[in-house]
Amino acid sequence: MATVVEPILSPSSLLSVTNAFFYLLVPTVVLYYVYYRMGRKRLYELAAKIPGPDGYPLLGNAHEFVGSSNTIFEKMYERSFEFTPSSPVKVWIGPRLLVFLTDPRDIEIILSSNVYIDKAPEYRFFEPWLGNGLLISTGEKWRAHRKLIAPTFHLNVLKSFIDLFNKNSLLTVDKMRKEGNKAFDVHHYMSECTVEILLETAMGVDKKTQQASGFEYAAAVMKMCDILHLRHTKVWLRPDFLFNMTNYAKDQVKLLDFIHGLTINVMKKKKDAYLKNKQATIDNTNVFNTTVFDDLRKARFDSEKKTETKPKQKEVTEVVKGSSFGQSAGLKDDLDVEDDVGEKKRQAFLDLLIESAENGVVLTDEEVREQVDTIMFEGHDTTAAGSSFFLCVMGVRPDIQEKVVEELEQIFGDSDRPCTFQDTLEMKYLERCIMETLRMYPPVPIIARELQEEVKLKSADLTVPAKCTVIIGTVKLHRNPNIYPNPEVFNPDNFLPEKTSNRHYYAFVPFSAGPRSCVGRKYAMLKLKILLSTILRNYKVTSDVKEKDWKLQADIILKRTDGFMIRLEPRKMKPKPTVVKAL
Ligand code: HEM
Repeated sequence: MATVVEPILSPSSLLSVTNAFFYLLVPTVVLYYVYYRMGRKRLYELAAKIPGPDGYPLLGNAHEFVGSSNTIFEKMYERSFEFTPSSPVKVWIGPRLLVFLTDPRDIEIILSSNVYIDKAPEYRFFEPWLGNGLLISTGEKWRAHRKLIAPTFHLNVLKSFIDLFNKNSLLTVDKMRKEGNKAFDVHHYMSECTVEILLETAMGVDKKTQQASGFEYAAAVMKMCDILHLRHTKVWLRPDFLFNMTNYAKDQVKLLDFIHGLTINVMKKKKDAYLKNKQATIDNTNVFNTTVFDDLRKARFDSEKKTETKPKQKEVTEVVKGSSFGQSAGLKDDLDVEDDVGEKKRQAFLDLLIESAENGVVLTDEEVREQVDTIMFEGHDTTAAGSSFFLCVMGVRPDIQEKVVEELEQIFGDSDRPCTFQDTLEMKYLERCIMETLRMYPPVPIIARELQEEVKLKSADLTVPAKCTVIIGTVKLHRNPNIYPNPEVFNPDNFLPEKTSNRHYYAFVPFSAGPRSCVGRKYAMLKLKILLSTILRNYKVTSDVKEKDWKLQADIILKRTDGFMIRLEPRKMKPKPTVVKAL
C-alpha cells in the first residue's frame, strides 16, 4: 500500500509563519531603533550644534572614506578648509560620532586631564597585535604600567645608549653608500636602523641574534598598519565577523605570527641572559659564603675605609636646562620628574620588565610581551617617519641644510669623532629643524580618545557629548595660520625661544602631552639628533621632487605615498671655524 507523506507545512501555513515572522521582526527592529535613538538623544542634540559636513542617514560620512590612503588624506585635508582653522568639526562614520579638535585651548582640556585618558574604541583593532600594552590600556592597569615603564626612558638611562646610537648611525651611513648618487627611498634605511637601535638599546639584545632583519620586521609592521587603517576607514570592515571573512584577516594572522615571533625571541634571549646572570650571582654568593669570615671582614673593612675617606654623595639626577626634548617647555610630564632615584638603580626597559615578571608580582609574561610589542612598534615607525621627512626636507631646502651643517662644523669641525651627549645639547639649530619637521609632518597625525562624560569646550559655546570619539587633529593644529604664519612653509625659526614662549603650550603636541604623553619622547629626540647629524656630516642630501608634490597618507603613521625619495653625495666637512656664527 502506497503511503502518502503529508507535507509538514502546507504553502498557506508557510506563508502565515513568514508573515508572523515579519510582523514580529519589523516592530522589534523599529522599537529597538527608537529605543537606541532615545538613548542617544543627548548625543544627537549636542552633535547637531557642532559644525560638520552633511552626511546620509545611517551611513553618515562613511562614503567619503573611499579610495587609497592618499586620496582619503588629501580629501579630508582639503575639506577641512571648509571650516575655520580652530573650529571643532564633527564627522559621522556610520553610527559613530567623531569630533575633531584643533584649538589648543580645547586640546589642553583633553590632553592635560587625568580623567579623559580612555583610548577610543578604534584602538581595539590593535589588540590582536599589541594586546593591552601601554598604548591602548586604560584605568589602573595603564597607570601601574606607565609608572613602571616611564622611568626606563629617563635621561640617565638614555645616556648609556649613546655609543649604540652612534654605532648604528655610522652603520646606516655605510649601508647607504651603495646607493651611489641615484634616487632611493630613505625610509627603508631609516626603518631598518630604528628597529635595530631599539633592539640593542631598550631591549638590550644583540640584533645579530635575531632571525629576521630589522627591515623585514618594519615591512611587516607597515602591512599591519595598512590593514588597521582599512578597518578604521571602511565601515564594513569594522565588525569582527565581517572582517574575519576577508583575506585581510588571513594576512593579519600571518603578519602577527611573524611580528610576535620576533618579540617572543627577544624576550627569550633576555630571559635566558637574566637567569644565567642570576645563577652566576647565586654561585658567586656560595663561593663567598665558603670563604668564611676573613673575606667578609676584609670587605667590611674596605667599605668602612671608603666611607671614611669619601664624603657620602647625594645621588643626583641631572636636569638638562634649556633643552626641551621635543616638548614645549611648559608641558611637564612624568618624564620630566626630578626624583631621588639614582643612576645605578635605573634599568633599561626590558631589563626591568623581565626582572619584574620574574618576581611574579608586577607583570605576567603575556603582559611583558604586550609591552615589548608596543615599544617595538611605537619606538620605530614614528622615528623612521620623522627622520625620513627630515631628510626629504633637507633635500628640498639646501639653504636650511647648509645652516645645519654650519652648526655641525662649529661642533665637530672636520673630525669624525662620535657624538657625545654634550654635543646634542649644542645642536640648537638642528633641534629646531627636527621640531619644525614634527610640526609640518607629525608622525602621529591624530590622537583619539573616548569621552565617558560630556566636555564643555573653551573655543566655542559647544559641548562634546559623552561616548563619542574625540580626535586631536595634530596635522591641522600644527598648520593653523593664526598660530604659525605661513604654516605650509618650513621655517625652523618657528621654534626660536621667543616664538615658543609666546605660543599656547598645546599648540605643538607631536608627542601628545599630559599624563598620556609619549614615553619615548626624549629617547626619540636624542636618537634623531645623533642619527641625523651623523648622516649630514657624511652626506649632502638632494631631492628631485618638490615639497608641494609630495603625496601624503595617514595610515596610523604619517608617510609619503610616493616614497621618501632622496639622493646622496659624499660631504667633506670643513675644520672648526674660529669665529662662531649665530644661526
Ligand atoms: C618622533 C618620534 C615619536 C613620536 C612623534 C611619537 C608620538 C607619540 C604620540 C602622539 C603618542 C600618543 C598616542 C596616542 O595617545 O594615541 C605616543 C605614545 C606613546 N609612544 Fe611615542 N612617539 C615617538 C617615539 C616613540 C618612541 C621612540 C617610543 C619608545 C621607545 C615611543 C613609545 C610610546 C608609547 C609606549 C606610547 C603610549 C604612552 C601611553 O599611552 O602611556 N614613542 N607617541
